[in-house]
Amino acid sequence: MITEAEKFERDNIITINPNTSPKVFKSIQDITDAEFGDIFADKILGATDDVIIAPDLGSALVDEAASAVALVEHDSVIGYSYAVDIAKFDPVRSVEQGKTAYLYLTVLDKNFRGKGKVGFLTDELFRNLLKKGYTHVERDCKTISKDGNEGYADKVQRHYSDLPGAIEYISEDRVRFEDVGPERLFRMNIAKSLARHYY
Ligand SMILES: CC(C)(COP(=O)(O)OP(=O)(O)OC[C@H]1O[C@@H](n2cnc3c(N)ncnc32)[C@H](O)[C@@H]1OP(=O)(O)O)[C@@H](O)C(=O)NCCC(=O)NCCS
Repeated sequence: MITEAEKFERDNIITINPNTSPKVFKSIQDITDAEFGDIFADKILGATDDVIIAPDLGSALVDEAASAVALVEHDSVIGYSYAVDIAKFDPVRSVEQGKTAYLYLTVLDKNFRGKGKVGFLTDELFRNLLKKGYTHVERDCKTISKDGNEGYADKVQRHYSDLPGAIEYISEDRVRFEDVGPERLFRMNIAKSLARHYY
């Protein structure tokens, strides 16, 4: 049985594609810029500075290697989540094309954080990836939040702790980018991560 809140979220999640309204893309850019400044204002970098995934965020989201979902209210984006094929993110891993995706960004508008909405977004993205044939997702999560509190990494780790096999690998915390701070890499089994359904 689904709750009213879950039904509302389910009805408001869209899959981003080239026909998605320009207002939605603008709104995605706005919440991203509000959080990260101009880091994603132009080129979208992959695993290293030599890998350019796309010339800008809008193009990255509709690339054939991308999977992206957004929570939308009145054409305004509350949050979105974007994954890219690992072969596009890191060409060295081309043999994993179509099997492993890199969860590149998850951003919620500040006013909608702390309400569990990230779970709906993540699950919908994972469902889309599974349908496309992906088996695994890798993601780097911050271990300390911007305001110095518990980072998202601990929350993710806790959230999946009761789902056996959902997280297959956890790295040491390490700093890849000085301006982001310490992060922890997770390799996740998509099907096992979806074992607890919201609806
Ligand atoms: C990262 C971000 C999307 C998380 O969203 P949020 O609403 O702030 O998340 P919360 O702090 O409420 O934590 C997630 C909660 O959802 C729950 N949850 C449900 N499904 C979840 C899922 N699939 N994955 C993770 N958490 C999930 C967690 O259990 C947690 O609940 P708890 O607080 O009771 O432990 C948001 O803070 C954000 O946009 N930050 C800025 C952008 C950013 O830095 N993104 C990258 C982070 S590595």
